Amino acid sequence: MFFSLAPLLLVPLVRAAPCCSLVARDAAPSASSSAVPSGGASGGIPANTSSNGDIVASTWFAAWHNDQYGLNNISWSKYTSVIYSFATTTPDVNTIGLAQSDMQLLPQFVQTAHQNNVQAILSIGGWTGSQYFSPAVSTSDNRTAFAQAVMKVVSQYSLDGIEFDWEYPNKQGIGCNVISPDDGANFLSFLQELRSQNGAKNLTLSAATSVTPWVGPNGTPMSDVSGFAKVLDHIGT
Ligand SMILES: *[C@@H]1O[C@H](CO)[C@@H](O)[C@H](O)[C@H]1NC(C)=O
Ligand SMILES: *[C@@H]1O[C@H](CO)[C@@H](O)[C@H](O)[C@H]1NC(C)=O
Ligand SMILES: *[C@@H]1O[C@H](CO)[C@@H](O)[C@H](O)[C@H]1NC(C)=O
Ligand SMILES: *[C@@H]1O[C@H](CO)[C@@H](O)[C@H](O)[C@H]1NC(C)=O
Repeated sequence: MFFSLAPLLLVPLVRAAPCCSLVARDAAPSASSSAVPSGGASGGIPANTSSNGDIVASTWFAAWHNDQYGLNNISWSKYTSVIYSFATTTPDVNTIGLAQSDMQLLPQFVQTAHQNNVQAILSIGGWTGSQYFSPAVSTSDNRTAFAQAVMKVVSQYSLDGIEFDWEYPNKQGIGCNVISPDDGANFLSFLQELRSQNGAKNLTLSAATSVTPWVGPNGTPMSDVSGFAKVLDHIGT
């Protein structure tokens, strides 16, 4: 019953988002998440976890709702990290998309997070921002360029980590994403490349996922995603 209802629930979301727009964000998801730690590096701001260093308490901050729900509305003390949503992929692999409003709000977000001893994470992708993930990770050259573009944003905004919200590797989300059967494998290669960048070892890297693994070349969930556990700190759903 739940699964037969799900497509109905998704329809208004698809309608609300002008297809292929990278700016309209009213259809992007905004929800709390609990995340599953998988080990790995810890970020610059140590997670605010006095009792148990393995606990990740994280949520997405919907920047496009800043007017109604701003930085002061976040219950910072409840979280170890807050994820600013969303930066987007763009046709140029060297450029991470940030709207003018984000460029102003993101520094305030990072500052407020750090004042509260909370990790400031930036999410890349989302429902309307995942169009160009596939080309960005499709070749070794593009993976290197994309990794360097990510590191530039990390350093420019003093971020503690990046969350990848690719909706979805080798599977249509909004309806006009570039996709490839190799997306899953290329995504892993990209994350490995990103982790090997200068200064990326202690970055918190995570991914927003479905309840099943990303689909492989044949369109069914990949059976072995253990490689991702080596490069991601945790996943959230
Ligand atoms: C990573 O660790 C190095 C020291 O090992 C530190 O200088 C740097 O600021 C850290 N980077 C982040 C993003 O926390
Ligand atoms: C984070 O630290 C604040 C005070 O420094 C504390 O009140 C809060 O409970 C901590 N949150 C978590 C999730 O540990
Ligand atoms: C956010 O905070 C402002 C000012 O503190 C308050 O007026 C407003 O009601 C809050 N909004 C929500 C959704 O809690
Ligand atoms: C590599 O990235 C560029 C955009 O910067 C794109 O035009 C090109 O198609 C990508 N290469 C592949 C093989 O997807």
